[in-house]
Amino acid sequence: MATKPLNTVYRPTHDEAARQGFVTALKGFLNGPLEASLAEHYEHELEPAFVEKHGHKPRDRHEGTDAFAGDHLYQLWGSAVYASQDLMWDSLNETCSRLLPEFEARRLALAAGSTLGTLELDDTLAIPDPIREVEIHRQPGGYFGRPGDDTLRQGMDYLGTGEMYMAAKGFAEQGQAGKPGMGRFLLSALRRRFPEFQPAAILDVGCGAGIQTVAYKQAFPEADVSGVDLSQPFLKFAHVWAEDQGLAIHYRQADARDTGFADESFDLVISHILFHETWHDVLPGIMQEAHRLLKPGGIFFNGDTPFQPARLSMQQQVTNHWQVVNNGEPFWTGYADTDMREALIDAGFSQDQVFADYEPLGAGERFIFGGVKASS
Ligand SMILES: C[S@@+](CC[C@H](N)C(=O)[O-])C[C@H]1O[C@@H](n2cnc3c(N)ncnc32)[C@H](O)[C@@H]1O
Repeated sequence: MATKPLNTVYRPTHDEAARQGFVTALKGFLNGPLEASLAEHYEHELEPAFVEKHGHKPRDRHEGTDAFAGDHLYQLWGSAVYASQDLMWDSLNETCSRLLPEFEARRLALAAGSTLGTLELDDTLAIPDPIREVEIHRQPGGYFGRPGDDTLRQGMDYLGTGEMYMAAKGFAEQGQAGKPGMGRFLLSALRRRFPEFQPAAILDVGCGAGIQTVAYKQAFPEADVSGVDLSQPFLKFAHVWAEDQGLAIHYRQADARDTGFADESFDLVISHILFHETWHDVLPGIMQEAHRLLKPGGIFFNGDTPFQPARLSMQQQVTNHWQVVNNGEPFWTGYADTDMREALIDAGFSQDQVFADYEPLGAGERFIFGGVKASS
């Protein structure tokens, strides 16, 4: 009997899908209508009360948070968002626990044969603080796994959560987990800007579990495609995921600031939602490394969240800040406060060759930024 590819094995049962659908709908309600009610409540009640007390409107998210403190609707929103995160992991746990043995069996079968791509792990790699300690999104075990667990579980959790997160934020229709929709979206944004561009060597930085990396190899089958990430559990998953789809992708465990590749190795260095999930202190080093790795004329291309404070209402700044403090998004603020154009120029890209703008996606937008390395 032919073996089913893992990207079709990962399917919730009817009851699991019903529970996961409920969580997505709940998250959608909290992000949408409930936040809209909170915005109105802020405009009509909380902001006027703050102005009466202080003689001015809240000037930043910290003063904004003071304006919301103790408010019942805000507390209801926060408690419900926190609980919905737990419900999300609980509902995914059912599917991932049930399917883990099948994923592990496939991993063993693939390991017994020859591989198309490679997996280079580095047990000595120092994971920068505070990234090492964070349970991002409050994912059980974070990105670096539960102690003693060498299974594909972290990658499966990440796979399951991706589409739920995006759908609940209004970025995507709820689709099938494991489709590299965001990778394809990034490529379409790349093509709109650089229609003639045909990269022969591509590096996905912060490739995670390799869900989106697949899109780059599928779009450019002749290209040499590599991915680097800090997370060993994610890379193990990424390797199995790519091999199972018959794709030659080369994964390496490395800090994106020091990948170990030679100068001018790549035509395209690409990332998806790396920068809001890495420590802002390491951001300049990642950009310098991308510049070093690009061939002259090569492109650094990144897609990430569009929540820069200057574009947000005070209520949105406060609710985003709440996510930073309470819901496993600790790096968002440093990222959102960074002037990406300046950071790219500081990393070596010339002023007239950098871009930082917004692309519509579903009910929302994505922030697209990067630069072209000078030709000489
Ligand atoms: C939100 S995940 C995105 C994964 C993947 N790009 C995707 O879209 O599914 C962010 C990834 O960045 C990785 N990361 C954070 N800082 C890094 C660094 N300094 N070097 C390499 N990877 C890093 C994390 O380990 C994590 O896998």
